[in-house]
Amino acid sequence: MKYLIANWKMNLGIRESIALSRAAMLSIQGSEVAPQIILCPAMTALHEVHKTIARSRVALGAQNAGPGRFGAYTGEVGLSQLEDVGCAYALLGHSERRAMGETDESIALRLKALYEQSNLTPIVCVGEKEKGSGGADAVASLMRILRDIDVPRNRRLIVAYEPVWAIGSGTPAVPAEVVAIVERLRDAALDRGAREEALHVLYGGSVNAGNAYMYLREPSIDGLLIGGASLKAAEFREIVDSARDVMLSQTEV
Ligand code: PGA
Repeated sequence: MKYLIANWKMNLGIRESIALSRAAMLSIQGSEVAPQIILCPAMTALHEVHKTIARSRVALGAQNAGPGRFGAYTGEVGLSQLEDVGCAYALLGHSERRAMGETDESIALRLKALYEQSNLTPIVCVGEKEKGSGGADAVASLMRILRDIDVPRNRRLIVAYEPVWAIGSGTPAVPAEVVAIVERLRDAALDRGAREEALHVLYGGSVNAGNAYMYLREPSIDGLLIGGASLKAAEFREIVDSARDVMLSQTEV
């Protein structure tokens, strides 16, 4: 299975979110082999997007998750509220959240709460700031986040390798380098109890319709986290088609 995560960030209102959700549904309609699409709209659009994609194979994710189910956390959206609105996934530790103060330690607390207090599947984002540092910081970051967490046996873990310098920059990482880092991230997660079949490691950073296939064709890259290109229905559809082509060529159903 290949995963395509659309991170719409703070870009869309409700109406545009519904329109893009419909386009995402159409892109896999009728095809037996299709990637798992996860849409991450703004919190304000979660409810309408959920209604739109109900009864389809498209799933809903939040762009962040609060550090508990409920409570006195002004401005946060709790795990219970995310489940209530139909989320099955949540991004944690996106670099844009880190730029506003989140750290490996605070992300670890959110992840622990998510596993202990919800059924959401986390998408943990890690990535080095400086180009050329070989992804060592990304691996160290994941190890710090997972240090006190045993991934529960019955739960999935999605890790997104997102070099900060590649996000929104138009300069994506080279696929061969991504493969090497993805493999190190996978080993780090396996060490913390993730099970091979329930662990998916993705790449994100300036992915577009022109380069998506280069990543998707790598068996060790389980999918893509897509920002800018996920805001354009036609371009996102091309990425979906690339994922489907790869899945068909690898005769995986
Ligand atoms: P980008 O964003 O595809 O626009 O580089 C990726 C992300 O921030 O997840």
